[in-house]
Amino acid sequence: MDKLLITGGRPLEGEVRVSGAKNAALPIMCAALLTAKPLVLTNVPSLADVSTAASLLGQMGASVERGDDGRMTLQAARIASRLAPYDLVKTMRASVLVLGPLLARFGEAQVSLPGGCAIGARPVDQHIKGLQAMGATITIERGYMNARVERLRGARIVLDLVTVTGTENLMMAATLAEGTTVLENAAREPEVVDLANCLIAMGARIEGVGSDVIRVEGVRSLGEASYHIMPDRIETGTFLAAAAAAGGRIRLLGVLPETLDATLAKLRESGAAIVTGKDRIDIEMAERPAAVSVRTAPYPGFATDMQAQSMALATVANGTAMITETIFENRMMHALEMQRLGADITIQGTSAVVRGVEKLQGAKVMATDLRASAGLVVAGLVARGETLVDRIYHLDRGYEALEKKLGALGARIRRVK
Ligand code: EPU
Repeated sequence: MDKLLITGGRPLEGEVRVSGAKNAALPIMCAALLTAKPLVLTNVPSLADVSTAASLLGQMGASVERGDDGRMTLQAARIASRLAPYDLVKTMRASVLVLGPLLARFGEAQVSLPGGCAIGARPVDQHIKGLQAMGATITIERGYMNARVERLRGARIVLDLVTVTGTENLMMAATLAEGTTVLENAAREPEVVDLANCLIAMGARIEGVGSDVIRVEGVRSLGEASYHIMPDRIETGTFLAAAAAAGGRIRLLGVLPETLDATLAKLRESGAAIVTGKDRIDIEMAERPAAVSVRTAPYPGFATDMQAQSMALATVANGTAMITETIFENRMMHALEMQRLGADITIQGTSAVVRGVEKLQGAKVMATDLRASAGLVVAGLVARGETLVDRIYHLDRGYEALEKKLGALGARIRRVK
């Protein structure tokens, strides 16, 4: 199994280009199921999760062609199977995003329940509740959600909590429903907006995206479209956190700075000098970072997907920071691994009190999920000596060529067997 070997303690310098967003690419790929016509995507990141989504669509009978430079053409002209099997859903929860599109276009879908997850329970009750409100009959049998409907009809749905993929599933389903659907307490994440813009390019009628009330007027069918996936704001934030922790000066290209307001505010608070352009961000950290507390929240709040990286920064900051996780109940596993590097962290429920230390020391650590891995890599870049990060298959799910990009910034990092 691959591991990452990092020799830390060196500032970062140089520039890198950020990839297309994983969490926009996955729902947008599933949107291809809404039409028999082709969907041509560009800026699709090269990630394990994207390959999983491609296999899932391929198994159903969709054609998936991948070209150079992140180009992908999807066409679900004939769909032989409306099944998302357990084997794929358990490796990637986002597979549940086929439920809304399949049900809306074919009137039936069989999707495995995702089950538990390393970072929390993560139920899909809101997806189910919303589709039922739109007229679907959903039964749970042998671990599968069996959904059926003649034709979905528009409904007013108030989500109990803010859910990103829940909003995406219901928004996709509503595009082909009869009448108008109003989603209240909808997620405002930029990836939801990106999906909506792709659906609009396919002919959907959607208003209010980016706010917490989304209105979808159903249409009979959707057509072909070309769409460019937005840049990955979490990859961007991970590089920014790495530069803030390790010090130095880097430039990130191909980014969307306005999707990173909360992260940029926290990094500035920690002492980083940041200049943003239309599609670039320059960050310089000349001194030891100041301790900055964060509390995760739905967008536009501080992203839970940046929590582990912000904890890594806090481990070497001057002062004490409180890191509070409000989205997932078990997303602090990296704290224990960071302690192996010499970090001073006390967990209190879903908060971590992080007292910054002058130095971390390299050690062997184990990644437990995607963003935990990213946090450990950031910590490894700061730690003196060698850090070996195990189980980096988690990283490959969501970061394209991370070690190459960090290497281009002067980090001593390589993949070992
Ligand atoms: N929730 C429910 N019921 C539901 C749906 C969600 O109780 O029906 C709860 C969850 O258990 C959680 C909270 O609502 O406590 C928010 O979960 P959400 O549904 O928003 O998460 P998600 O859609 O499953 C997406 C991202 C995650 C990211 C979260 C939060 C994708 C493919 N995944 O997950 O990304 O952490 O939103 O922003 O978009 C990652 O990239 O590493 C990752 C985990």
